[in-house]
Amino acid sequence: MSIAIIDPGKDVSDWVAALHAHDSALKVEVWPEIAEPEKVEFALCWNHPEGVLPQFPNLKCISSLGAGINHLLNDPSRPPQVPLVRLVDNALKQSMAEYVMAGVLEHFRRFKDYRQLQSRTQWKELPIPDISTLGVGIMGCGEIGRYVAQKLFNFGFSVCGWSRTRKGREKFPVYVGNGELETFLSRTDFLVCLLPLTPETENILNRMRFDQLPAGAYLINVGRGSHLVEADLLSALDCGQLSGALLDVFRQEPLPEQHPFWGHSKIAMTPHIASVTNPDSAAEQIVANYHRALSGEPLLNLVDVECGY
Ligand code: GLV
Repeated sequence: MSIAIIDPGKDVSDWVAALHAHDSALKVEVWPEIAEPEKVEFALCWNHPEGVLPQFPNLKCISSLGAGINHLLNDPSRPPQVPLVRLVDNALKQSMAEYVMAGVLEHFRRFKDYRQLQSRTQWKELPIPDISTLGVGIMGCGEIGRYVAQKLFNFGFSVCGWSRTRKGREKFPVYVGNGELETFLSRTDFLVCLLPLTPETENILNRMRFDQLPAGAYLINVGRGSHLVEADLLSALDCGQLSGALLDVFRQEPLPEQHPFWGHSKIAMTPHIASVTNPDSAAEQIVANYHRALSGEPLLNLVDVECGY
């Protein structure tokens, strides 16, 4: 019985240590060094190569090493009968909230404009709106989206959410489904994409949707690169419909050197670090799911493969 970590090209020694800290008896192997593939019952995957999962005939559970699972759903060789779980972790939610808050505040408080003034030794006060008039729209009100929205709401922004289906009651308005998307966008000065990537959400950040935002809105994409139609972002920035964008995720990662986003004055970028899973805080649920998978108990954070999250 063993756990296989499949995260090609990464040093996963911190994951091995964190799993052992929760259960020192666990046998943890790191792909491709798997001695007995038939003994692997639990696979922990991030960007695993297609075709690798069928090498383990006795898998009882496949876990993403992150919150997203599209790398697993997109793999046609994934054994469909094996349940999929993902990580839902407080440290991950907090880290995402910090990133989004930093992105919104940086733009709202005009730090970039002040750096430009500083470079010209200009002492000049710039106007800013009242925080309560600024609409922050969170697309995707799952575990992470709700947490981020709540933090921004508590901070004083005029927050609203958008999601596919109605979930619980929130302190802020949540618009639901395609029918309410336009209303949601019309009151959103900062559009934050925290959606899962599914066939319905792919390309959702497009020119038609940008044009439904108030002029000069700002985009933060921390979902997946394929949510965004890249040419539409460039045209919306060039004509001023969008005033800027902060992007953490890209269609191709690492972003190719010749990509036009690198040098664009209105685009700020980070290399998919908005919220990186912390082994120390996430190991507990992985070990719990490993034992649940072996004993047949219900799994934590089970993915609904039909819904795609
Ligand atoms: C990061 O992108 C994750 O899915 O955890």
